[in-house]
Amino acid sequence: MEEIRIRYYSKTGNTKAVALNIASILNLNALSINEDDYNSSCGLLFLGGAPYANIMSSKLREYALNLKKENVKAVALFTTSNWSRRTVKALKKILKEKNIEVYDEYLYVHMLTVKNSFNKTKEFVEKILNKYNGEQNGKDSLIFKWWCCRSFLYEGCNFNNFII
Ligand SMILES: Cc1cc2nc3c(=O)[nH]c(=O)nc-3n(C[C@H](O)[C@H](O)[C@H](O)COP(=O)(O)O)c2cc1C
Repeated sequence: MEEIRIRYYSKTGNTKAVALNIASILNLNALSINEDDYNSSCGLLFLGGAPYANIMSSKLREYALNLKKENVKAVALFTTSNWSRRTVKALKKILKEKNIEVYDEYLYVHMLTVKNSFNKTKEFVEKILNKYNGEQNGKDSLIFKWWCCRSFLYEGCNFNNFII
């Protein structure tokens, strides 16, 4: 499973440029949603798009609708536009309705500042990674706690139970 994936939809290149910055910060590749394989799973998905006449492209909408909860642990959104934040709001709604975890924090880059957005993007990526890693570690330790309780309840207090 890919731990981190970066996907975008971009007609004129602005969202792609931000996706490529995210990719260079993480030392990964960013792919257009047109090249994505829906069936493979990943941990954290960075997903970006933009509004055109106030709505996101139907391809991006379709991509979000086709994402499966079991194939993605969490989504971080990014968008570029002239003023509108509608794309992230609409994506959030779709993903939340599918019970996919989507972070409230998202990256907004104005279309005229894309070239100067590297530092802002880096800050965003670092925040998201901290959050995601914290959550994953938290989940691991919860599983560990559950396993300890189960051992105590069902197998008695035997330290051999704790040797994994
Ligand atoms: C046909 C068209 C319609 C647009 N409509 C909007 C809009 O309604 N609201 C807005 O904030 N930006 C609008 N924009 C600006 C784009 O959202 C912005 O340039 C964005 O960065 C484009 O992303 P892309 O280069 O990744 O395709 C529009 C741009 C185009 C070309």
